[in-house]
Amino acid sequence: MKFATVLFGLLNFLPGYRNITCCVGFIIPHLSNSASIISKCQKNAIRNSEIVKSYGWLDNFLPAPIEQDDSKRRKEYPEQYSATYELNKKILPEDGGREEFAIARKLLKQTMLEERPLQIVYDTNQHDWDAASFHRCVDGKGAAIVMVTYKRDNVIKIVGGYNPKGWSSNGGARPSVAAFLFYEIDHEGDSHEKIFQKLQKVGGGGLACARDDPDYGISFGPDALVISLQEGREKMATSNLGPYYERGPDNISTLFAKGAQSASLESIQVLTGIYDEEEEIPYSGAVLDMTSG
Ligand SMILES: *[C@@H]1O[C@H](CO)[C@@H](O)[C@H](O)[C@H]1NC(C)=O
Repeated sequence: MKFATVLFGLLNFLPGYRNITCCVGFIIPHLSNSASIISKCQKNAIRNSEIVKSYGWLDNFLPAPIEQDDSKRRKEYPEQYSATYELNKKILPEDGGREEFAIARKLLKQTMLEERPLQIVYDTNQHDWDAASFHRCVDGKGAAIVMVTYKRDNVIKIVGGYNPKGWSSNGGARPSVAAFLFYEIDHEGDSHEKIFQKLQKVGGGGLACARDDPDYGISFGPDALVISLQEGREKMATSNLGPYYERGPDNISTLFAKGAQSASLESIQVLTGIYDEEEEIPYSGAVLDMTSG
């Protein structure tokens, strides 16, 4: 009996400091009336285990465990999960006839922008090809989809990526498991509809957006799609897939044609959601990055 109560006391000790007083009571059982303490400690133990379960401190930094029936959670917190390969079929009326919006809408399934009206905030047809202009246009606007075009055998091709944490010029990296890259698939047949393949972030969320510096452009991973917007090579984009973003079903080593590690871009467009004035824009400021160092 004494052994059992001491053991129970020690087990109770584990969940937290709060049980220390109870445990002392158990370890020296003759000092107290054990019956009332047992019920009190059991209650504490139960309460503590619930706290650990629903408010685990790790939950703030790690993606939620994927459960069996998680469709509701997926809907509520789409970006605690890796990007889905599924494409949106419906275009919103707000997307109008603009091709950029229609393409973005397709790609944004299971993201916080899935049903939000979009705007083009940075467009090299209007803005300068430099990091300062880029940040002036995108900072504080939250989640963003980047679409770039380059010429391949004289045909314009689209590649890009989704940065769920946006930019804020706060320096450092912005992690997200939900970030993805995409590229246009060559397709046979007469259809003019563009087909896209998405590539998930791999190796956790770290360095999804690898740099958020005011004097540096776009960096999906340190190497997966980098458009640094530095003077002298403003239009240069480089891509190396594998370490931070997957190579996908075609096992491609770069986003660009024929394994080219770089491409000279024709245009960059960055689209973000449109938010009401009183709405808070998620990730419009600094983000805590515990996943990369
Ligand atoms: C993918 O391509 C790389 C070379 O680029 C090769 O080393 C690797 O084995 C390939 N993986 C698969 C699954 O085919």
